[in-house]
Amino acid sequence: MTELIVALDVSSLSEAERILGELKGQVSFYKVGLRLFTAEGKNAVELVQKFGGKVFLDLKMMDIPQTVGDAILEAGKLGAYSVSLYLWGGIRMLEAASRVQNRPKLWGVTVLTSLGDEDLKSFDVRDIKNLVKDLAHMGEGLLDGYVCSGQELQVFQNGFKKKPTLIVPGVRPAGSPIGDQKRVVTPAEAAKQGADFIVVGRPILATAEPAKMVDSILHELKSGSVASTLDPSGVPAGTRSTAKGAGG
Ligand code: C5P
Repeated sequence: MTELIVALDVSSLSEAERILGELKGQVSFYKVGLRLFTAEGKNAVELVQKFGGKVFLDLKMMDIPQTVGDAILEAGKLGAYSVSLYLWGGIRMLEAASRVQNRPKLWGVTVLTSLGDEDLKSFDVRDIKNLVKDLAHMGEGLLDGYVCSGQELQVFQNGFKKKPTLIVPGVRPAGSPIGDQKRVVTPAEAAKQGADFIVVGRPILATAEPAKMVDSILHELKSGSVASTLDPSGVPAGTRSTAKGAGG
């Protein structure tokens, strides 16, 4: 069963607390990322834990091996369930991260879901799927999971000794604005393709009734089909576009 991680992409503890309160009992896994962590630091992690939630610390680390290893040690002390790091940091960085004692799970970022083929043209990339595959193989045996688009999940079906945990951002319920994402899928598609987790931010945070949107997403994950109750209320008319056909 695919699990939902809500991205707490807000700028203050009070906003985070409001969302945590509204989704209490529905969601128990949250992402603390660059915005909230920069604004509030470890208090943000502690706040989620106070609500009984697990934390995915999405800081997308990439630096020299020693620095990343040391940062992951600190993330372990915070009690984060998982942290993200860029596969692009190279094998020695990944090895340093994996050697850390009492560390959170390591989730390797492959290619951002906000990038499309045209963004990668200047790097002579054959296609995104191959790039995701090559990066993922580099992390095999060192990482616990991979962050990728739902459009690349099939890459992980063959050729890996053990099926890794697959985390999919860039998820858009039908009717939600796509924003800066490019390689998007619906919750149902992510579930069908074998995602273990989906990470969803704005489609939930931007609605007037986040709990209702979460209900629809959870229903979609469970049933594998779009929830009939889906109502992206709170989304200003005119900014809507459908997730379908928006992949690139
Ligand atoms: O608001 P939205 O649903 O697009 O948020 C997606 C979340 O997933 C953001 O917090 C973003 O930082 C994160 N993410 C992503 N693409 C990745 C890795 C993480 O969009 N490759």
